[in-house]
Amino acid sequence: MKSFPPYRIQVVKDIPITTRAEREQALARAGYNAFNLPADAVTIDLLTDSGTGAVSAAQEAAAAAADRSYAGSESYYRFRAALDELTGFEHVFPVHQGRAAERVLFSATLSAGRISLSNTHFDTTRANVELLGCEARDLPCPEAADLDSDEPFKGDVDLDALERTLAGPEGDRVGQVLITITNNGGGGQPVSMANLRAVRALCDRYGVPFFLDAARFAENAWLVTRREPGYGGHSPAEVAREAFGLADGCVASLKKDAIAPMGAFIGVRDAELARRCEVNIIATEGFRTYGGLAAHDLDRVAQGLREVLDPNYLRARAGEAEQLAGLVNEAGVDIVRPAGVHALYLNAGRLLPHIPPHEFPGHSLACELYLAGGIRCVELGSLYLGEFDEGHNLVAPAPFELVRMALPRRTYTRAHYEYVADVLADIAKHPERVARYRVADAPPILRHFKMTMEQLPARG
Ligand code: F0G
Repeated sequence: MKSFPPYRIQVVKDIPITTRAEREQALARAGYNAFNLPADAVTIDLLTDSGTGAVSAAQEAAAAAADRSYAGSESYYRFRAALDELTGFEHVFPVHQGRAAERVLFSATLSAGRISLSNTHFDTTRANVELLGCEARDLPCPEAADLDSDEPFKGDVDLDALERTLAGPEGDRVGQVLITITNNGGGGQPVSMANLRAVRALCDRYGVPFFLDAARFAENAWLVTRREPGYGGHSPAEVAREAFGLADGCVASLKKDAIAPMGAFIGVRDAELARRCEVNIIATEGFRTYGGLAAHDLDRVAQGLREVLDPNYLRARAGEAEQLAGLVNEAGVDIVRPAGVHALYLNAGRLLPHIPPHEFPGHSLACELYLAGGIRCVELGSLYLGEFDEGHNLVAPAPFELVRMALPRRTYTRAHYEYVADVLADIAKHPERVARYRVADAPPILRHFKMTMEQLPARG
């Protein structure tokens, strides 16, 4: 039996239908950087699944009843209740988005010269570690290096490498272990409960705090119920609670798995750590009962957290990703396997072998998806992760040349995804026609948001 979403669509938004000539002009004006495109020039927007999900009637009803009291609002207590039920953390603080949670927590846990260990730090997470004068070190499990294998938990941290680092000469410089569920920077792959339990044990042994970056906690929980022996009979809510229960605290953007336009939280157990976070939040975000969020956002989040754990919703969402993955494979394009839930990662390096890393095959494919079909997505390859010299020449390529197609929650239908796959299939029939790119200008940090590119003619 095919899965279907447990809702019907009641409010819709028109999407722009454009011609190739219009898109060529728009992309040239944007300096061939999709982040510079105005949204009204984009037909299918797969740039991110963050803050882009459709809210429910129940979320909007809760938002309408929000209480805007400065301190101790009713909205705050509803927000707290939803997170108490889910996480069990003694201290919970709202903040405006995930990167604010990172900045606040890390400034309380890290000091210059410390090391943060992770399966993979997301880019803002890495930036917040580095801004404190610390090192963000990724230790993905070895299985993650094989994009084609169907290993179920390629998001796991490498436990041997983690133990070696904690036990080795740098061990006393490790300030935290941060595990990202699901592993967004690592192909959207899930982390197993066995891995989280082993991290807990290592952190106990070496006296290091263990935090989760839980932006996609519900989708990770869903994949655990599908893939991990012993968890088939668990509900996603039970798995999520167990995961939070293993950690000393968390940062979590709520723009993903709370299906809310804005929001995040910090959860911690330690009272002294909570106190340090609270001072920082009051100084930089807002009073501890709203933390930079409007009351209606607190209520949208509280309601969204309940909706996201509905197994029928998660089954349908994962089903959409799997269906798109199947269509993409039929189109002759490989993805990072197995398909996760929030995004598919296209193997652009394999599709465009004639485009070398310094001409950015991932970026070429992302631009072509826009030019051919108005589809916006983002490169995760040498442009994003490679090392450049001051003349903007690539000096060290990324290990893989990928394009991330993020899937906003409750937003597109299967028909939209069939259209995406058709566009990709047309591109895959004539890969030699895809244009190449070089960097025209780029800032020294967070390059991909601001760089401008120059188009070079296709080789074919
Ligand atoms: N951690 C992870 C794993 C994320 O994916 C993100 C955001 C953040 C932290 C930061 O949260 O956006 O609320 O400040 N990811 C988005 C993306 C932007 O497109 O993957 P934020």
